[in-house]
Amino acid sequence: MDAADGLLLLSNQLFAMDLDTMSLKYRINAPVSVGQFLHVLHQSGLASRRPVNDLECLKGMLQNSNLIITAWDQDELIGIARSMTDFHHACYLSDLAVSQAYQGLSVGFNLQVLTQQQLGEHCKLILLSAPNSNEYYPKLGYQAHDRCWVLSRDEVLSKRAYSNAMS
Ligand SMILES: CC(C)(COP(=O)(O)OP(=O)(O)OC[C@H]1O[C@@H](n2cnc3c(N)ncnc32)[C@H](O)[C@@H]1OP(=O)(O)O)[C@@H](O)C(=O)NCCC(=O)NCCS
Repeated sequence: MDAADGLLLLSNQLFAMDLDTMSLKYRINAPVSVGQFLHVLHQSGLASRRPVNDLECLKGMLQNSNLIITAWDQDELIGIARSMTDFHHACYLSDLAVSQAYQGLSVGFNLQVLTQQQLGEHCKLILLSAPNSNEYYPKLGYQAHDRCWVLSRDEVLSKRAYSNAMS
């Protein structure tokens, strides 16, 4: 059984982790509505860095992710780790958000542990930190990478840039 098979088996199973943290429940690939996603983005503070006014985009983000770990207090979505991955080589953790009332209770850590547990043992976790969380990831073992490159949303690939870089 490979990691992707494992995910299918685990899909939407319920995890109760860290019972000290108010009986929060964690779910793997449980359905998340756009409204619930918006709620946790606003409650966490991540809304300022996500397209919260573009509901089509939010819908696409949810529908086309293939690994979403969620944390729930009863029916309220209070934490999310949304990733795109091949389960073997690379996993891009695109959104990690925990509602402010629940921050500092290891919810963010647990969401990442559950994310990693769905991946093959050699699969790399990759993310871009929000500015105010840049000190968070090294505490968990992530290493900064000075060869990470980003093409911004409003930019297109340019051969001219390539020529300039080569000359
Ligand atoms: C960043 C975030 C996901 C962390 O989740 P969390 O559940 O609060 O984190 P944890 O409880 O697992 O924290 C583990 C440790 O990291 C520390 N920590 C939490 N947020 C931190 C931050 N922004 N910067 C530095 N350290 C941080 C905690 O104090 C804790 O340290 P301790 O064990 O020494 O007390 C959460 O604070 C959040 O949603 N922030 C706003 C949105 C955001 O910036 N998301 C990241 C986008 S890349």
